[in-house]
This record gives sequence, C-alpha cells and structure tokens, in this order.
Amino acid sequence: MTSTAAAASVDASAFQAALTATADAVNAELDRLLAPVAGPENRVVEAMRYSALDGGKRLRPFLACASGDLFDVPRARSLRVAAAVEMIHCYSLIHDDLPAMDNDDLRRGRPTAHRKFDEATAILSGDALLTEAFAVLADPATHPDGSIRALLVSELAQAAGAAGMVGGQMIDLMATNLSLDDAGIDRLQNMKTGCLIAGPCRMGAVLGGATKANIDALGAYGLAMGLAFQIADDVLDVESSAAETGKATGKDAAAGKATFVSRLGLENAKKRARALADEAVAHLEAFGGKAGLLKQAAIFAATRRK
Ligand code: IPE
Ligand code: IPE
Ligand code: MG
Ligand code: MG
Ligand code: MG
Repeated sequence: MTSTAAAASVDASAFQAALTATADAVNAELDRLLAPVAGPENRVVEAMRYSALDGGKRLRPFLACASGDLFDVPRARSLRVAAAVEMIHCYSLIHDDLPAMDNDDLRRGRPTAHRKFDEATAILSGDALLTEAFAVLADPATHPDGSIRALLVSELAQAAGAAGMVGGQMIDLMATNLSLDDAGIDRLQNMKTGCLIAGPCRMGAVLGGATKANIDALGAYGLAMGLAFQIADDVLDVESSAAETGKATGKDAAAGKATFVSRLGLENAKKRARALADEAVAHLEAFGGKAGLLKQAAIFAATRRK
C-alpha cells in the first residue's frame, strides 16, 4: 500500500476502531500491573483498580502506542508506557474530583473514588498510581536500555509535575483571582492538560530511539491537540450532560473557572479547537501516510462529544 493510500484508508471509524483496540489492550496491561495483594493494604489496590481499570477514552495510551508505531516499537513496550501514562492520568482525575478541588461525585459514569471509598483512601490511591507509573517505566521490561528508561522517567516527570499537570491544576484553582488573559489561559490549559497529552506522543518516539527533531515534532503535535482537547472538555461542560459524558456538567461557570468558553464564547472556542487540530496535523508532515491515525486523533480531540 502506498503512503497516500494508507492515509486515505484512515477515516474517523478506523480511528475509533484503533482507539477501542488500544483501550482493550491497555486495560489488560493495567489489570496485570495492578494485581491485588494479600493483606489489609489491598484496600488501596482495590481503589487503584476501581479508578484505573474501567472506562475512560484511553486517548493518552492510544497516543503512546500510535507514536511508537511510527518507529516500529514492539507493542509490549509501548503498552507499558501507555499504562504508566494512564496511571498518572487516573491519579490526576481522582485528586481533581476531591472535595478540596472540583468536588465531584461522578466520574466515568460511576461514583468518584472518594465517594466510593473515602477521602483518605482516594488520596492514597492517587499517590500510589503516581508512584507505580514510575516503577513501570523503570522496569527493564519497558526497554532493555537504561538510558532510554531514564529519558522516559524524565519525560513523564516533566509532564506530570509542577511545570506540567500539577502546576496547571494549581493555576486552575487560583484562576478566579488571577484575571488571566488569552495567553494566560493558553498556558494554564497547556500545563493542566496539554503536557499529559504531549507526553505520551513524545514517549512513544523516545521508546523508538527517534531523533530529537521527531520527538519535538510529536510533542508539538500533542500540545496543540491537548489544547483542543481541553477546549472540547470546556465546551462539553456547557453543551453536554452527565448522561453523555459520565461526569457532572455545568460546573465550570458555576465555579468561575477560566476557560476559553468563558472568555471567547462557545462558537469561537469551537473554532479555536478546530484551528488547533489543523495546527497539530501540520506538525505530522514529516511522517507522511504513516501518521493517518494520529491525524484522526487530532480531529477527534477537537470535535469529540464525550
Ligand atoms: C478528563 O480527561 C480531564 C481532562 C484533561 C479534560 P479525559 O476526557 O481524557 O477523561 P477520560 O480518561 O476519558 O475519562
Ligand atoms: C482536569 O480538568 C484536568 C486534570 C489535570 C485532571 P477538569 O477539571 O476540567 O476535568 P474534568 O472536567 O473534571 O474531567
Ligand atoms: Mg479541575
Ligand atoms: Mg474536574
Ligand atoms: Mg472539565
């Protein structure tokens, strides 16, 4: 098949099929990695499994695998990176839902972790998922070369820490008092959401021993897509329902959150998300027809309905 034919063969339904296949595979991987233990501390493992095993779109795992595929990474390796990134994401959701943060009762169509268990158990299960993610990356099964494993650890730490997701969550909570301008909101959303979407794009390439230029191109793709993804999340908070999204809606305005919807209005926010998807796709040019699924992923991030 020529590369043009390969690109043409990847439409939205092919992307959905690939996303579902990755979701199934990463579920099995997480099930193995988060095995129950003997002893009363199994309560925290049970809470980790509750939040990590069921539901979710699994976009970040998909991105780790699809990026790895560009460099012929064995699927067993990219799935470990995918599982590590999803553990961080699930921990971020557990903590995001806590009473001290967004105070939500519903996540992925079920009670949030602190509702299902209790607040202390939810906090600990997030802490343990965060820690376990790095244990997975540090394991030789992820890559035989220790320097590649160190790079993966460094990538995930940057994406998840104070310069990334956690820093963005901090600004998100402070935003009502900061009166952010457009650039400030971009920065907040890049940190809060973009970094943990760009991270797996970069990490798939790191696993494949890609050049710095290729790793950076995939990172730039992921960052633009991540911003589109968060704009879509903010649009759904206004336009959708808990039945469709599996989480409470109508909360951002009530909490005075700084979003592009609050700043630009719905229609301009949607336009911006589509423009960002185009920007993301432009970063894939060097990969030609091999990047068909990643192109569809960017469109999905901007236009998704759940
Ligand atoms: C929700 O992420 C939090 C945001 C960064 C917007 P997702 O929309 O990826 O949540 P799941 O994993 O599909 O539940
Ligand atoms: C959360 O953003 C982003 C994270 C880092 C978890 P939101 O607070 O908008 O995510 P939802 O809407 O609760 O999923
Ligand atoms: Mg939040
Ligand atoms: Mg929230
Ligand atoms: Mg939201």
